[in-house]
Amino acid sequence: MTSRRRFLELTGWGAGALALGRLAASTGTSGAGADPGILRAQGAADLELELVAAPEPVRLRPERAETMWRYRARVISGDPGAVVDPGPPFPGPVIRARQGQALSIRFRNDLPEETTVHWHGLEMPDDMDGHPRHAVAPGAERAYDYQLLNQPATYWFHPHPHGRTAWQVYHGLVGLLIIDPAEAADAPSGEDLPLVLQDRRFDASGALVYDPTPMGFLGDEIYVDGRPEGRLDLPAERHRLRLLNGATHRIFKLGWSDGRPLRVLGTDGGMLESPLDKPYAMLAPGQRLMLEADLSGMRAGEGLALEHLGFDDGAIGGMMQLPTRLPVSASFGLVDLRVSAEPADRIYLPSLTRGAAVGGATVAGLADSSAMRLASRRADLPLQDAAPDRSFDLSMQFGRWLIDGRSFEMEAVAEDEIVELGAEEVWEWFNAGGGMGMGMGGMMRMPHAMHLHLVQFRVVGRDPDPAFAAAYETVRDGFVDEGWRDTVLVMPGERVRIRARFAPFPGLYLHHCHLLEHEDGGMMRNFRVSG
Ligand code: C2O
Ligand code: CU
Ligand code: CU
Repeated sequence: MTSRRRFLELTGWGAGALALGRLAASTGTSGAGADPGILRAQGAADLELELVAAPEPVRLRPERAETMWRYRARVISGDPGAVVDPGPPFPGPVIRARQGQALSIRFRNDLPEETTVHWHGLEMPDDMDGHPRHAVAPGAERAYDYQLLNQPATYWFHPHPHGRTAWQVYHGLVGLLIIDPAEAADAPSGEDLPLVLQDRRFDASGALVYDPTPMGFLGDEIYVDGRPEGRLDLPAERHRLRLLNGATHRIFKLGWSDGRPLRVLGTDGGMLESPLDKPYAMLAPGQRLMLEADLSGMRAGEGLALEHLGFDDGAIGGMMQLPTRLPVSASFGLVDLRVSAEPADRIYLPSLTRGAAVGGATVAGLADSSAMRLASRRADLPLQDAAPDRSFDLSMQFGRWLIDGRSFEMEAVAEDEIVELGAEEVWEWFNAGGGMGMGMGGMMRMPHAMHLHLVQFRVVGRDPDPAFAAAYETVRDGFVDEGWRDTVLVMPGERVRIRARFAPFPGLYLHHCHLLEHEDGGMMRNFRVSG
């Protein structure tokens, strides 16, 4: 254990911030590099990037190029390898940086409508979080300056404008942000493979279609890393797959074609302490998983196929079933990982060992002590279930998706949506269904994928609804509740409890369903962290 990490464990939240600030100030530009506990002063960024959202032709199908919206990123200063963008049809740039590094991102909106950039999963000051109240007008710019306080894992960024998030994400605005360990020695060796899962629909002429209803949208084809072929030629090695569900609505149940267990290495907000074998794994929109794909010892032509395994989302036979050629109850292939002697078609992320010095040598100024916050010290968060401090009903009434009977309001925060800075709380979401079906087993039954900004949390309790027992059996072994999450599946009738520490920043944040049509339809609320 490094002394830095040890120190983080010994200091408490709050009082520790000052002490840690002094320590970092006194050690200055030591060889230990950036300290993840300190919010660096502005102007001391380790990595300066330009990020642009703009229309761009993308060949989603061979017969025609589609005008998609896409992020483009460029390194202005810092490690030139920190941005990898294989270009279209790959969904977007991959930003790769180390824990503790300070990022300064100059964003320009070259789209014909307003947008924001939200850094999904990151502990972020509220004015950097891409809240819809901070919309960036067409042609305008905004600076996103923040320090990577989170644990090493796969995060991502996407737009968050009010009412248009699903449309903008579907039309291509997606990027990955990977946090590597602060010290290269802590990084696993080998290379990673990003797998962004999305679904798409086309009309007879081959044009991209997005025609959601308030219930949602399911495409007719699965695209992995922007391609429909679903095949990657790889060397016969052990690979780490960084999966992101970047679909607006579709929930995946992941499994290997040969029935072997899935080896899970990490979740939304961190690596697991040790690898975990699951018969299958659920991946809801917004969620990430790191999986191991072991092709070592295989001959050319052999491989593994990652599949979607059909499950019952509780909507079967109900009013909520969405039109699609690929219902979630059907099984189908997602991506074929083939051993090839000439692995030409791979999209590898750069190897970690190549990286530049940790954090650079620019721990110049420190922000004043009031702005200095410890990253939420998560390791000591208790994991036991408890009666919830807050409980939110998820429902649909009069055609609107609601959280506790309320629809999204841009600035409003209700009395029971205010949390003390540093407080550790248990939140519960109850997927009540509601509408005309309430009390009749819930006709408006649909899973929701509840997401909290600002924090990573632990899932501490689930109470499935006995009325949906058979459907629940098709998913229950696939929740990866053992790791840090920022998004959690809540099945019809189910109550899910999570525990989080609301830190390290005060401000106005969001919680919402990450089925993006639900979010846009109002299933989103502010919460305020006061302190
Ligand atoms: Cu990935 Cu508020 O969203
Ligand atoms: Cu988010
Ligand atoms: Cu939902």
